[in-house]
Amino acid sequence: MVAWVDNAAQGSPRRAQAAFRFREGAHASPGKVAYTYRQCAESAPAPFPHPLELFAVAAAEVCDGDKCLVPIPLDLPEDAESELAAFLSEAERQRAARFHRPRDRQRYIVAHGRLRQLLAQRLEIGPEQVALGYNRYGKPELLGPQAASGWRFNISYSDAAEGSLALCALSRRGRIGVDVESVRRLDDPETLARQFFSPREYALYRRLDPDDRPMGFFNCWTRKEAFVKALGTGLSHDLTDFDVSLTPGMPARLLRVGGLSGERCGWRLESIGPAGGRVAAVVTEHTGS
Ligand SMILES: CC(C)(COP(=O)(O)OP(=O)(O)OC[C@H]1O[C@@H](n2cnc3c(N)ncnc32)[C@H](O)[C@@H]1OP(=O)(O)O)[C@@H](O)C(=O)NCCC(=O)NCCS
Repeated sequence: MVAWVDNAAQGSPRRAQAAFRFREGAHASPGKVAYTYRQCAESAPAPFPHPLELFAVAAAEVCDGDKCLVPIPLDLPEDAESELAAFLSEAERQRAARFHRPRDRQRYIVAHGRLRQLLAQRLEIGPEQVALGYNRYGKPELLGPQAASGWRFNISYSDAAEGSLALCALSRRGRIGVDVESVRRLDDPETLARQFFSPREYALYRRLDPDDRPMGFFNCWTRKEAFVKALGTGLSHDLTDFDVSLTPGMPARLLRVGGLSGERCGWRLESIGPAGGRVAAVVTEHTGS
């Protein structure tokens, strides 16, 4: 079955209809899930499809050419976990052994084992042959000749009542970052928003109806985090140096990056969900290809 999440699900359908002019498309490629998406005619680049299945724990991967999103179910039976653990490098095994909580160790092993499988398929090598290193901010990346393949990736973890999963985003078109969060009640979202959002984002957030604020908060959070993860800098990047849209039901956009408007910044932001209690964002670099 093919499904996708309409942005209208995040807010008033009338508002969303006014903001979007849709055209529909469908893709299918061998071995991949066929999907239907609606393209927002207002922003030139095609948005990533918004399949509800991405958050279903047993979902398959969804691709748009050389850009893929793959859900990784983290709650696996022991034998499946051991199979994935066998793919890890010595460094990954040591990292796994350093986790205090068995739960954290298990999800790291499963996500990294599956990540290796996904990269191995693309590089046409064995999962244990994938050569991974880290940039100076801790972002994992392919090394040496494998990096020359052009494949980039990023992962994000999320626990929710529906089950734990990681989302893996892969692209051959440039840098990529992903963040997935369960939409949940926070103790003091106001303080977090003031602390982490840019002045423009904070003003947008404050203007929301109180009922829309939890969704607006996680829209902003996932979009900002996906961007700093695409850059590879993580938290060390100045979070006030760029603005994202956050209003539920409105298009996901980078509004500004440094002194550049979102349209000219060379990055594309796409939002997935909300669905199954989660929302996610993916940021990809335009490389001109
Ligand atoms: C890793 C980081 C980028 C995100 O952390 P997080 O939300 O706790 O974790 P996620 O589940 O989304 O992602 C974790 C994965 O990101 C990847 N990662 C680690 N450092 C990264 C970096 N500098 N850039 C991109 N990805 C990174 C890793 O693959 C990691 O999983 P692994 O350790 O099992 O390999 C975090 O260190 C950070 O800097 N967060 C920024 C938080 C922030 O500024 N939020 C702003 C919201 S307003």
